[in-house]
Amino acid sequence: MKERNIRNSIIELTRSFFQEKFGNKTFSPGKDAVHYAGRVFDEKELVNLVDASLDFWLTAGRYSQEFTEKLEDFLGIPNVILTNSGSSSNLLALTALTSKKLGARRLIPGDEVITVAGGFPSTVAPIVQNRLIPVFLDIEPGTYNIDVTHLRETVTPKTKAVMLAHTLGNPFNLNAIMEVVHDHDLWFVEDNCDALGARYNGNLTGTFGHISTVSFYPAHHITTGEGGCVATQDDLLAQIIRSLRDWGRDCYCEGGENNTCGKRFSQQFGTLPPGYDHKYVYSEIGYNLKMTDMQASVGSAQMEKLPGFIEARRQNFTRIYDGLKDLERYLILPVATENADPSWFSFLITVRENLGFTRNELVEFLNLNHIETRNLFAGNLLRHPAFIDIEHRIAGSLEKTDFIMNNTFFVGTYPGLTGEMIAYMVGKFHEFFDRLNK
Ligand SMILES: Cc1ncc(COP(=O)(O)O)c(C=O)c1O
Repeated sequence: MKERNIRNSIIELTRSFFQEKFGNKTFSPGKDAVHYAGRVFDEKELVNLVDASLDFWLTAGRYSQEFTEKLEDFLGIPNVILTNSGSSSNLLALTALTSKKLGARRLIPGDEVITVAGGFPSTVAPIVQNRLIPVFLDIEPGTYNIDVTHLRETVTPKTKAVMLAHTLGNPFNLNAIMEVVHDHDLWFVEDNCDALGARYNGNLTGTFGHISTVSFYPAHHITTGEGGCVATQDDLLAQIIRSLRDWGRDCYCEGGENNTCGKRFSQQFGTLPPGYDHKYVYSEIGYNLKMTDMQASVGSAQMEKLPGFIEARRQNFTRIYDGLKDLERYLILPVATENADPSWFSFLITVRENLGFTRNELVEFLNLNHIETRNLFAGNLLRHPAFIDIEHRIAGSLEKTDFIMNNTFFVGTYPGLTGEMIAYMVGKFHEFFDRLNK
């Protein structure tokens, strides 16, 4: 009883602390930053975090279970596996497809994986890390997703998988991808890190692939600080992913559990002696990429806000779009992929060429005015020191990827943006072009 009372007092104090530290934010145009992204939370996240820390369970516990169930409900997928990042999730997703447990269907070194070079490095890194060969297709300005025009002729007998991200919340052409995946019996990993809540043909992204991933880094649709998850309909893949996440062990007991299979000391594996403790039997070459219960407690509170967040992102996108529409002679504005209802991570803009100004000049002007911008991540991965000499194949050319690398940037759509901030930002774009024309 005493313990409960103390816990309640601490939680009450946490609520007051939240109001003191984070309540009543004001915006001063020209002084305060218009961020491209950020954590959006209220006292519930802080209360959960304190509550979880008072449990001092530290590793996966009651909040991890709660968060997992909410994600499974949201996605309508029976297996969601929490991880410590979106990058770890991508690594787990692709590595799972190399497991011996998949028999002849497993990916082996030298197999080709279709992807793009215009995006985030850790969508492609797992391909290289698993000694598979990325095959790069171009991306298109406007949707910033894979150009599927030459997709079919790109497939060779060595092609075994597709791994792609829905660029900044805008789904790629899933009709085209699913057809090729189906016709050539390919594996399909959907990097849904930037697109939680997006829909294609009415269905949520992250539900099309054999495996999909999400990131909960603060810039993303919901946050746990660091964090991510992997989702799959397939129970065998889920078992492999859990094993890879948890050191490669064969045993699937949660932390603190023992002998849930009832056969802990009565099985035989590899060339180990019969009855060797199942807890320490390794059937995968694994990692440790788990999430803590403190992170999950924040994620669980964020899940309640997710539908509102997605809606706010869509509204902010529309407001920015309407505000910049009259500048289309200078700027290529973003376009939703056909059949898609994006869950916008941000607002991508491409500066048209040969109009007397550059992307960098516009971006510099915006940043001087405290409007944060980002490039489309790596631009063209193959131009980076780490990727320049990887074994790869380019299907066609990456001309448009380079064009985007040189001319594209984005501003935020995140739910923390207010109408006032967006009006200020739109005003500054106009100011830039008014000056240019003087
Ligand atoms: C498409 C995509 N995939 C993966 C990641 C990696 O996520 P994390 O930062 O959680 O490792 C990111 C990061 O923003 C991303 O944009």
